[in-house]
Amino acid sequence: MKSTSQAANQIKVVFNNEKILSQPREKIISTRMEKSLEHESGALKELECLVGLDGVKKLVYEIYAFLTIRKLREGQGLHNAPHMFHMVFKGNPGTGKTTVARIFGKLFKDMGILEKGHLIEVERADLVGEYIGHTASRTRDIIKKALGGVLFIDEAYSLVRGGEKDFGKECIDTLIKSLEDNRKQLIVILAGYNDEMDYFLASNPGLPSRFPIKLEFPDYTIPQLLDIANGMCQEQAYYLAQDSRNLVRRLLIREMEDGLNHFSNARYVRNMIEKAIRQHAIRVVTEYTAGEIDKNLLMELRAEDFNVQ
Ligand SMILES: Nc1ncnc2c1ncn2[C@@H]1O[C@H](COP(=O)(O)OP(=O)(O)O)[C@@H](O)[C@H]1O
Ligand SMILES: [Mg+2]
Repeated sequence: MKSTSQAANQIKVVFNNEKILSQPREKIISTRMEKSLEHESGALKELECLVGLDGVKKLVYEIYAFLTIRKLREGQGLHNAPHMFHMVFKGNPGTGKTTVARIFGKLFKDMGILEKGHLIEVERADLVGEYIGHTASRTRDIIKKALGGVLFIDEAYSLVRGGEKDFGKECIDTLIKSLEDNRKQLIVILAGYNDEMDYFLASNPGLPSRFPIKLEFPDYTIPQLLDIANGMCQEQAYYLAQDSRNLVRRLLIREMEDGLNHFSNARYVRNMIEKAIRQHAIRVVTEYTAGEIDKNLLMELRAEDFNVQ
């Protein structure tokens, strides 16, 4: 009898453990994180409102857990090794890289890693100068501006475009040097297309170890792009009529399948909605004569607003 009840107990214990483990850990962490950052900038909410980007959200929960444990370890007098949060963002245009970098600035400030949390976005032309020494001083100036925030280098692979003699190398060397000096005050994000970024990282042995966090920004699916379209309308107090929803879906599929233009994901959606909002204005202004105007008319984007080429 005894052994049966023991077995029953054991099963119960295992069952309870399973129950705890089966709760999504990310959900538990995100709830705690929301609570602890509720009086901060709202960057976490902004991030969570973005469509998709599960890998990005997961990373943020991971970092929050990591920082929490570091604090608890500190409290117990345990030594924490210095940690770098420099990152590589890989993905096609319009997949949310700049948007996420801007949110990360605010979020890392909220979490106490950055002092200011602003974003400085640059590309090759901002960094690379015209003669020896020029690039190093330009790069240092930009790093100075970014201190306390995020330095976002877009299309970073173009820094190795010209090979050994190119001044891009001077920029990378300067950057690597200042990463050592400014450990606590800056997060550098290198962004660009997948393949080119792999090539870029392989080109300089100093880079991969200094950029330990790699995030992929996948192309959005059609349902995700439609969610993004709805969200963008809502943000501006518009909405898509049923017929325009169908049309937007068709236009997105056509654009995605048309290999001629490089499909620019959510940016394409943003441009499409902005254009429709302007066409809507023209339609409504010409239809409107005088007196009271129907509120719904001011909000509804119809298929015809998307049809103008
Ligand atoms: N997941 C998302 N949810 C909502 N809007 C998004 C999302 N990703 C991108 N956007 C929007 O799409 C546009 C382009 O995004 P951006 O961050 O500039 O892309 P990238 O830097 O990768 O080219 C921006 O207007 C941004 O607000
Ligand atoms: Mg960008």
